[in-house]
Amino acid sequence: MFVPHPIGYVSSPYNDSKQIPKGLHTKHEAEGVLRILPEFEVGLTDIEGFSHLFVLWEFDRSRDFDLIGAPPIDTRPHGVFATRSPRRPNPIGLTVVSLLRRENCTLHVRGVDMLDGTPILDIKPYMSSVPEEILRRGWLEEAESREKA
Ligand SMILES: C[S@@+](CC[C@H](N)C(=O)[O-])C[C@H]1O[C@@H](n2cnc3c(N)ncnc32)[C@H](O)[C@@H]1O
Repeated sequence: MFVPHPIGYVSSPYNDSKQIPKGLHTKHEAEGVLRILPEFEVGLTDIEGFSHLFVLWEFDRSRDFDLIGAPPIDTRPHGVFATRSPRRPNPIGLTVVSLLRRENCTLHVRGVDMLDGTPILDIKPYMSSVPEEILRRGWLEEAESREKA
C-alpha cells in the first residue's frame, strides 16, 4: 500500500467537533480554504472550471474505529461502512464542496465539515451520474420518515 502524504491542509472555522453542524437535514454552508502545498500547484491547472469538488482528507483527530455504531442522526446502530462516521478502519473523509474561487495554491470553498488544519489527501472534480429516480439512501430515508411521522 502507498503511504499517504498530504497535498495541503484545510483552513476551516471549526476548532472543535461540537461546532460542526450535525442533524438529518444539515446543509454545510461554512466557508473554508483548501491550502494546497506549492509543489502541487500545477496539479490545480483547469480546476476553476468546476463548480464542485470532492475533497478526500484524513480524520487526523480520530483514534481507533467502531464497526457498529449509532450515528448522531439516528438512534439505531449501523455498520461503519453504511455511515459517514469519523471512526473508521482507514480514517478517510470525503466532502463535496463548492469552489468559490482560486488564488494560486489556495482554493476558497463553501461546504466544509472538517476541523481546522485537517490534512487533504486528494481533490477530484465532482461528477454524479446516478439519476435521482434510482438512487436509494438506505437507513437515512427511514430515519427521515420516522422524524416526519
Ligand atoms: C460525520 S463526519 C463526515 C465527514 C465527511 N463529509 C465524510 O462523509 O467522510 C463529520 C464529522 O467528522 C469530525 N471531524 C471533522 N474533521 C475531523 C478531523 N480532522 N479528525 C477527526 N474528526 C473530524 C467532526 O466531528 C465532524 O462533525
